[in-house]
Amino acid sequence: MDKITLGTKNVSIEFPGVKALSNVDFEIETGKIHAVLGANGAGKSTLMKVLAGSNPDYTGDVLYNGKVVELRKPVAAKELGIQIVYQEVDMALIPSLSVAENVMFNHLVMNMGHKQFVDWGQIQRDAKEVLKRLNIDIDVSQLVGNLSLAQKQMVLIARAIQSTCNFLILDEPTAPLSDTETEELFRVCQHLVATENLAVIFISHRLHEVLQICNSYTVMRNGEIVDNSLITPETTTKEIVEKMLGRSFEENFPKEIVDIGGKALEVEHLSEAEGNVNDVSFYVRRGEIVGIAGLVGAGKSELCKTLFGALKKSAGTIKFDGKELKIKTPSDAVKYRMALVPEERRKEGVLVSETVDFNLSAACLGKFCKMSFINKGKTAENASHFVKSLGIKTPSIYQLVRNLSGGNQQKVVVGKWLAADCDVYIFDEPTKGVDVGAKAEIFKLINEIAKDNNCVIYASCENSEILSITDRTYVMFDGKIMAELETAKTCEDEIMHYAVGGTEAYVAS
Ligand SMILES: Nc1ncnc2c1ncn2[C@@H]1O[C@H](COP(=O)(O)OP(=O)(O)OP(=O)(O)O)[C@@H](O)[C@H]1O
Ligand SMILES: [Mg+2]
Repeated sequence: MDKITLGTKNVSIEFPGVKALSNVDFEIETGKIHAVLGANGAGKSTLMKVLAGSNPDYTGDVLYNGKVVELRKPVAAKELGIQIVYQEVDMALIPSLSVAENVMFNHLVMNMGHKQFVDWGQIQRDAKEVLKRLNIDIDVSQLVGNLSLAQKQMVLIARAIQSTCNFLILDEPTAPLSDTETEELFRVCQHLVATENLAVIFISHRLHEVLQICNSYTVMRNGEIVDNSLITPETTTKEIVEKMLGRSFEENFPKEIVDIGGKALEVEHLSEAEGNVNDVSFYVRRGEIVGIAGLVGAGKSELCKTLFGALKKSAGTIKFDGKELKIKTPSDAVKYRMALVPEERRKEGVLVSETVDFNLSAACLGKFCKMSFINKGKTAENASHFVKSLGIKTPSIYQLVRNLSGGNQQKVVVGKWLAADCDVYIFDEPTKGVDVGAKAEIFKLINEIAKDNNCVIYASCENSEILSITDRTYVMFDGKIMAELETAKTCEDEIMHYAVGGTEAYVAS
């Protein structure tokens, strides 16, 4: 099969105060999986949007098979078979429609107005056919709202390849997926590349995945391309990180030893109304970081939300310093000095149409008010502090959060609660979509919070994170706690043993 190339020559994009891309020369060809890497705000999504026709104000040229093409609207890119799946998959799907309708969505929309009848039988057959091409087994008549995140991702990929697809751009597709779901996605990508002569452009902050699946990579830094390389068995994540950050970097997060105090937060027999958390009991001592480990879907987020009053509790008690906390809503939780950094940042964590300054102060406005007037100087000081310590890339603290890159929005969510003065901090997958440098900063700040004699709960499906930041860990499976482990004495295998539902005591092999 003839290879097709897609590239840019001298492409630049400027937003007010930000040079998002400067003179980018980039090229990929079909038959490969190619990674685009870089720290948060490096310009990866901006470049992908140019290729997908949704950043019309670029200067320079986009080249398709060496010829200049004008990609000033998404349909122009689609006509050339350039398809993109954005990170927030929920936004692109219609939950109340079936899998078949979602897969065939473009087709349905394009034909609207031309035809009077829709042949639903045909739509279902076509959708089935596409899913078969991907080798995936999903019932096409069920509603998309009932699918897991990974399945939704597959539906979007099916939609993308349902029309001509030569270049499939996946912008951080694995951030919300578990390891097994990620494997499944990789299988689909490899299958497509092998059978359909297309290129997959893959963006991810999980570099070990990149080494596992990609043939080559491009590193971006500050809107420029700094490296293009092939991936060989000798390629290491360390060398890639150093290219991304432009400095040497050791990816280890030494756990600080702090004095751990007495039991402060005590949770007994907690259940959530929909059954996603089932009779959960645990405690956190002052100064302690307690992990909640488990696979995607084990009930970790539901546990965090139930503690915080964002999901309805059906049984159980929550006590702090021996006193029962009556939490029915998140505002009750805030009154009891609890903080939650939620997993789904766009939906729950930040006000995207507000500024960085406002968001970073929102959780603790009281601290910055005098007789109900907000002291702007103080909020600005607070915001500048967190922009600096978390390395939030923004032209000013008055930038709207919507205009920040995905990872930088996540840093704002984390920063917002770090600024609040609370006793209990709950972090639910706080490093999702955040680059390695920023991850180290976030870990440092969480350690500082714990050192201040606070209780920290850290939920994550990444066992390596659990092992590096927590003192003690509970492992969840199917809404229940399967084990309590001393972090210093456990290992990834033991956590996994319980995370997949092991009930017998773990024996190291
Ligand atoms: N619409 C916009 N208005 C203003 N600035 C923008 C806009 N879109 C992107 N930017 C800025 O352009 C730069 C590049 O952002 P981009 O989203 O491409 O980063 P990224 O490499 O995808 O980062 P991440 O890993 O966090 O997703 C950032 O500084 C971002 O704030
Ligand atoms: Mg991005």
